Amino acid sequence: MLFGFIIVKIVNNYMTSEFNIPLSESLRNPSPEIVVLSNASEVDKKAFDILSRVISEKPNAVLTLATGSSPLGLYKLMIDARLDLKNVITRNLDEYWPLSKENPQSYSRFMKDNLFDHVNIPEENRNIPDCETADPEAEVARYQAVLKRTGPSDLTILGIGPGLTCHIAFNERGSDENSRTRLVKIDPDTVKANARFFDGDENRVPQMAITQGIADILESRKIILIAKGFSKAEGIKRTLEGTIGPDAPASFLRNHPDVTFILDKEAASLLGTNIDRFIRSLLQENDSLMCAGNCRNSISEIDKQVKNKFPGINTKILAYPDARTGMGVHYSLLIVSKEKNTIVNPVSAPGFPEYVGEESSAPPMFSQMRPVSEVI
Ligand code: GLP
Repeated sequence: MLFGFIIVKIVNNYMTSEFNIPLSESLRNPSPEIVVLSNASEVDKKAFDILSRVISEKPNAVLTLATGSSPLGLYKLMIDARLDLKNVITRNLDEYWPLSKENPQSYSRFMKDNLFDHVNIPEENRNIPDCETADPEAEVARYQAVLKRTGPSDLTILGIGPGLTCHIAFNERGSDENSRTRLVKIDPDTVKANARFFDGDENRVPQMAITQGIADILESRKIILIAKGFSKAEGIKRTLEGTIGPDAPASFLRNHPDVTFILDKEAASLLGTNIDRFIRSLLQENDSLMCAGNCRNSISEIDKQVKNKFPGINTKILAYPDARTGMGVHYSLLIVSKEKNTIVNPVSAPGFPEYVGEESSAPPMFSQMRPVSEVI
């Protein structure tokens, strides 16, 4: 008991003195800014703070808007806050083609349902490519003219495409940094991912889209990219840590002077250095398992619970701050199982022991983990 207390105390001191650096700080380069927050609603709030600041400084701001699930929470906050948007101009990033405007999956309908019908942006100030046009090339020219007439965006809101597509708007893999608004073919991986919105039927997903180009997006004065959930983790890692290039179009954002990636801890969970090497070395040296402790529980208590849950397992307790939340005060439990060659149960601190046993293939940040023996 006393021993457990001492370990926790030392570990706590160690963590709070040495590691009390929010992840957002430790990963911060001059650009991009990376903000990692503990959950999706914190992400929405952060995005809303940025947007409302832009609008209070410039009530006639030009906004570039995204569709998809990522900005939905932000749109809800905009509606609830009753922001005065009567002088704001919006230009949507992209739209399927061809598709009926009344189709619930058209981006024009999405914007009406989720934002435009509930705020006071005048209809004539809202711009979105026409998904019904019979002449997409003429529509592309019209939309390019809209972008030119309305000037550079004050704020662009982005999501990121599924998996490793790393698309922004519909700039799929292969898109050039100098690309402009154009008609594009949608990446098969995106078609597959978006089929869930079309009753799971890939054949009903439009194969083409009209999208602003990377160069159009990069002209924005300020850009935020919102990503939530483990499904975005790989793409975010590729975008932020891989080479900048057309095989990960979102990576071009790293060339912009004012871009903020707002991530929840799941979307950020693969970020970090040498994660794979670290896991592999641990798995080599440990028979079956390591786990990392939560500061609210004594390490010995964690050990006991893990052994109960996984009888016969060799444990190695490590302590680390929950770098994924960037809070510096919350810690997580993490187990690496050699037999399964998988990460079991990365969980956030509160009430952690109940969660032991869940599985996930997404490891949290390893870069700051230390065995307790080193800590002491
Ligand atoms: C679509 C859109 C993108 C959007 C992306 C992510 O394919 N063309 O502009 O960012 O999906 O969608 P979600 O936010 O639902 O993950």
